[in-house]
Amino acid sequence: MGKQALEAMPRFKLNSGASIPAVGLGTWQSEPGLVGKAVKEAVKVGYRHIDCAKAYKNEKEVGDALQELYKEGIVKREDLWITSKLWCTDHNDVEEALKGSIERLQCEYLDLYLVHWPCALKKDAEGTGPEDFVPLNIKGTWAAMEKCYESGLAKSIGISNFTVEKTKSLLSHCKVRPAVNQVECHPLWQQKKLWPYLKSEGIHLTAYSPIGSSNSPFADINVLELPTITKMAEKYKRSPAQIALRWNIQQGHSVLPKSTHADRLASNIELFDFEISEEDLDEFAKIEQHRLLRGDEMWVNDSTSPYKTVEELWDGDI
Ligand code: A2P
Repeated sequence: MGKQALEAMPRFKLNSGASIPAVGLGTWQSEPGLVGKAVKEAVKVGYRHIDCAKAYKNEKEVGDALQELYKEGIVKREDLWITSKLWCTDHNDVEEALKGSIERLQCEYLDLYLVHWPCALKKDAEGTGPEDFVPLNIKGTWAAMEKCYESGLAKSIGISNFTVEKTKSLLSHCKVRPAVNQVECHPLWQQKKLWPYLKSEGIHLTAYSPIGSSNSPFADINVLELPTITKMAEKYKRSPAQIALRWNIQQGHSVLPKSTHADRLASNIELFDFEISEEDLDEFAKIEQHRLLRGDEMWVNDSTSPYKTVEELWDGDI
C-alpha cells in the first residue's frame, strides 16, 4: 500500500452538512463474482466511498463484501460512504426501494440516495421500450425522497443525469435541496454548461465515467488516448487515468473510477501528491467536447417517453 493511500481521503462538503470522499469506487458494469473482490481490495487500499445502484444488479455481492470487511476489522460502517440510486421502476415506491438497497447492501442507512434518471417506468418493466414508460411525476418522487432524508434512512439526497433545466425545475418546488448531481464528467465532456450552474446553486457534482468508460459500447472516443491526456501523463509522470481523475478533482468534483483490477484500484486513488498547473488546466479547456453516454437508445422514443429526441433529454446540452 502506498504512503498516500494510508492518509485520510480528502472530502468535499455538501449542502446537507455531510462530507463526501473525493474518490469512490464505481460498481456499474462490475461483473458478478468480481465486484465483491474489487470492493474488498478497494477498501484495503484506502477507498471509503462505494457507488452503487439497484440497476447494477450487484448490491448483494457488494453488501456481502462489506460485511466481511467489518468482521475482519478493516473498516467500520460509519467510516464508509455508501451511495445508491432509485431505479426508474420505483418512483411510486421510493421508501420501499431505498429499504431494498439498504437490505442488499446490509448497511442500515445510506449516505446518499439519488434519483437515477429523470424518467419513470412501469413497476415490473425489465427494459426501457416504449411499452415500459409511465408519466414522470418528479414532484411526487422528490417529496418521497425528502421523507427518506427526514427519516434518516438517507443522510443526503440528490439526483443523477439532470440537466440545468431539470435541476432548476426541481429547485422551484423542493423543500430539501439536492446535495449532489451525479453526471458524466471527464476531460472530453467537462459539463461546461451544467457545472457553473450547479456551483452557483451549491450543488456538488460527482463525476461518473471519469476515465471515459472505455469498456462501454457508447465510448466511441478513448479519453485516455486524447493527446492532451497523454502529453500531461508524460509531463507529470502519471498514468493517463490519474491525469483524467486529477483534472476532475481540481474542478472540485468527486470521481467514481471503476476497476476490478488491484493495480488499477491502487493507482486510481493516488491523486493527492501532485497538482496540474493552472497553465496546463487551460490546455484541458481547449479540448473539443463530446458527450459519450447519449442515452437515446434507452430514454428517447416518440410515443411514451417525456423525451421525443435526444436534445429534449439533455435540453440541448449535447
Ligand atoms: P477494468 O475494470 O478492467 O480495470 P470508468 O470508471 O470511466 O467507467 O472506466 C472504467 C473502465 O476503465 C473499465 O474498463 C476499467 O477496466 C478501465 N480502467 C480502470 N482503471 C484504469 C486505469 N488506471 N487505466 C486504464 N483503464 C482503466
